[in-house]
Amino acid sequence: MAAGGFLLALLLLSCLAASSNGVTFSSLQRTLIVRASPTQGQVLKAGEDKITVTWSYNNTFPPGTDSTYKTIKVKLCYAPISQVDRAWRKTVDDLAKDKTCQFKIVAKPYSASNSTITWTIERDTPTATYFLRAYAFNSAEEEVAFGQTTDAHKTTNLFQVEAISGRHASLDIAAICFSSFSVLSLFGFFFIEKRKGKASRQK
Ligand SMILES: *[C@@H]1O[C@H](CO)[C@@H](O)[C@H](O)[C@H]1NC(C)=O
Ligand SMILES: *[C@@H]1O[C@H](CO)[C@@H](O)[C@H](O)[C@H]1NC(C)=O
Repeated sequence: MAAGGFLLALLLLSCLAASSNGVTFSSLQRTLIVRASPTQGQVLKAGEDKITVTWSYNNTFPPGTDSTYKTIKVKLCYAPISQVDRAWRKTVDDLAKDKTCQFKIVAKPYSASNSTITWTIERDTPTATYFLRAYAFNSAEEEVAFGQTTDAHKTTNLFQVEAISGRHASLDIAAICFSSFSVLSLFGFFFIEKRKGKASRQK
């Protein structure tokens, strides 16, 4: 059991460590140009429809501004429209705590030139209004710049995703916790089974 407790503690610590780099969104420069195929108000189907995303460095910024950029991560983000009854989706300036861009589309090495990918909207994407954002990360895996398909107030180029029938938007809160929870419950089962095994041998 001691080893189990230790592993659990380690797991929890690594979760905490992974989510506390302290970079704020307001400190990032918008040096990336991000464009995507959905038109304003378009309704797309999760698990079926595709989105094409293109991103590049905005050359009106001085050359070399991007010298620390190592990786680009493109994400699907909730638009403010969906915050009305879901305060937990509100943008938090501390990026480690922000849950508005929780759907990862792709991670690629940084290149200043145009990069394009086509992404089939993941099956478990909840019904909501979205836009796309790309973050540039440095070699320490901290966000250093961004670009997005919408304006600063998140009012333009918003599109909708319709979930596969039966799935409700509130499930996405569960999805945040599920990955760490499933690992925890695996550990739990493992130790309960081990104890049962011991108990039956002692009979
Ligand atoms: C590039 O950056 C400049 C300066 O911030 C901005 O005015 C311009 O709109 C940007 N270009 C694009 C295509 O986003
Ligand atoms: C990306 O493509 C656009 C449109 O084709 C072009 O105007 C822009 O200069 C390109 N950007 C880079 C960094 O190559």
